[in-house]
Amino acid sequence: MKDVKGKTAFITGGASGMGLGMARAFAAAGMKIMIADIEAGPAQAAVDELKAKGYDAACLQVDVTNLEAMHAAAKKTIGHFGKVHVLCNNAGVGCGGRSETAKMRNWQWVVDVNLWGVVHGLQAFVPLIQAHGEGGHIVSTSSMAGMITIAGTGPYNATKYAVVGIMETMMVEQKGTNLGISVLCPGLVATNLGTSARNRQDAYGGAAKANPNDLMVNALSDGLDPDIVGKQVLEAVQDNQPYIFTNPEVGHVFESRAKAIMSGFAWAAKCKALLDVKQPSTLPGM
Ligand SMILES: NC(=O)c1ccc[n+]([C@@H]2O[C@H](COP(=O)([O-])OP(=O)(O)OC[C@H]3O[C@@H](n4cnc5c(N)ncnc54)[C@H](O)[C@@H]3O)[C@@H](O)[C@H]2O)c1
Repeated sequence: MKDVKGKTAFITGGASGMGLGMARAFAAAGMKIMIADIEAGPAQAAVDELKAKGYDAACLQVDVTNLEAMHAAAKKTIGHFGKVHVLCNNAGVGCGGRSETAKMRNWQWVVDVNLWGVVHGLQAFVPLIQAHGEGGHIVSTSSMAGMITIAGTGPYNATKYAVVGIMETMMVEQKGTNLGISVLCPGLVATNLGTSARNRQDAYGGAAKANPNDLMVNALSDGLDPDIVGKQVLEAVQDNQPYIFTNPEVGHVFESRAKAIMSGFAWAAKCKALLDVKQPSTLPGM
């Protein structure tokens, strides 16, 4: 979507970190901004900051785990701005732990926010964007943890791989249409992700303070400025760029994963159980 001026963006998790970076970059490019976040105070502070610069912005308190609330937010956004063109499914929570030992409540929390939150955003907004016919763009925030394995964060990685899968499927489905599709896969970014449990809903065990010695909290503080990621996302929307990476220098780690996967195909070609088995040479939809 080359021409973003005057268009409207709905950004989940827009009160902090990369979502706020996107709001700032989009607003500076002349877009209207609806910030949707579970934290009402920071969302309002973000709107006040944007309005003080003369930009058009509003906010809604929304929990992305709630589909009905997302439909209601879509309705309110249309009521306020008339149309939505860009959806950023960005709200997410960080949560450490191995798949086999992480508390089940944390598993459910991270899946409900990071995976179902994205699905709810798509369900509530994609039909509305398609209905006005002016075109649009969807950006969902995954992570490098959706491209390569990071040990010790099994549930988080699972949600981020799932987001890559959803967005890659949409890239195929929307090819040639006026709906651009991107997946954002950042490396370390200096945001408040390390204190995600500040927002943990009661259903998942309630809010908790981060451990100041937590590896994630400390690692993130050395990360990239989230405003730079916001500018990158704007550029990606304008360029219709499907994959948005923040760390071009770590591409070789993905190459190692691709090589390991290819060795699985090489093994299958020699596997005794498959010898002399006849199969179709393509899969459905390929
Ligand atoms: N910071 C990093 O290094 C990094 C790296 C890769 C991916 N990510 C991803 O980036 C996205 C943005 O996170 P961030 O790093 O900017 O962290 P952040 O904590 O600064 O921002 C996340 C925002 O999401 C909001 N949020 C949390 N739960 C919500 C819910 N249920 N409903 C609505 N809003 C909710 C928070 O209030 C917050 O404003 C997340 O999806 C995260 O997984 C972050």
